[in-house]
Amino acid sequence: MDSSDALLPRPRREIVPGAVHVPDWLDPAQQRALVEACRGWRGYRATRLPSGGVMSVRTVCLGWQWLPYRYSRTREDGSPVQPFPGWLADLGRRALADAYRRPAVDYHPDVALVNYYDDAAKMGMHQDKDERSPDPVVSLSLGDTCVFRFGNTEHRNRPYTDIELRSGDLFVFGGAARLAFHGVPKTLPGTADPELGLTGRLNLTLRVSGLAA
Ligand code: SIN
Ligand code: MN
Repeated sequence: MDSSDALLPRPRREIVPGAVHVPDWLDPAQQRALVEACRGWRGYRATRLPSGGVMSVRTVCLGWQWLPYRYSRTREDGSPVQPFPGWLADLGRRALADAYRRPAVDYHPDVALVNYYDDAAKMGMHQDKDERSPDPVVSLSLGDTCVFRFGNTEHRNRPYTDIELRSGDLFVFGGAARLAFHGVPKTLPGTADPELGLTGRLNLTLRVSGLAA
C-alpha cells in the first residue's frame, strides 16, 4: 500500500446479500484494547484436523471449544474453556446493528474463535457450519491486513470476492450468506500500524452456538 491508498475512503459494502464489510469499525484505541484482551486469553494452539493436517493459525476459543467438527465444553486436554465475556457479546451486538443497520438486541453470541496468523499462516476455504443456530457470524480483524476470500454457499470455487480486511475492520455474514465458503489466502506481513504493538494478525469470530448452556 502506498500512502495515497490510505487516503482513499473505503465505504461500507455488501459483498453478497447478508455479507457486509464495514471498514475501520474499531478506532485505534478500541483496537489496542482488543489486542490486550487477546493477549490475556491463554493457550493459543494449532488445531489438528481429522484429515491429519494441522492448521497454520493458532486458536483460542471462548465459551465453547471448537473441535473439528463440533463444539465441546472442554479443551483437548480436558481443561475448561475460558468464559465468553459479557462485554464481547455487547460488542458483537453493536457490530451486528451497525453492519445490518438494524437493532440486534436479540443477538447473543456465546462462542468466539480467536485466531492468530503469523506471516505464513492462512486458512483454506471452508464453511462455518458447526453451529446449530442460523444467527450471523461477526468477524473483527486486528494487526496485519489480509486477503479475505468470500465465496458462495455451493462450493469452494468461483464465484468469490477477494476483500482486504485491515485492522479495525468488521465483517458480518448471515442470512443467505451464513453458510458461504470463505478463507484467508494470505496476510500482508508488516502492514499493521506499529503503534498497535501486534506482529501478525488476529481475527475474532463471534458466533451463536445454538447449544444449551
Ligand atoms: C474464519 O474463517 O474463521 C476466520 C476468518 C478470518 O481470519 O478473517
Ligand atoms: Mn470461518
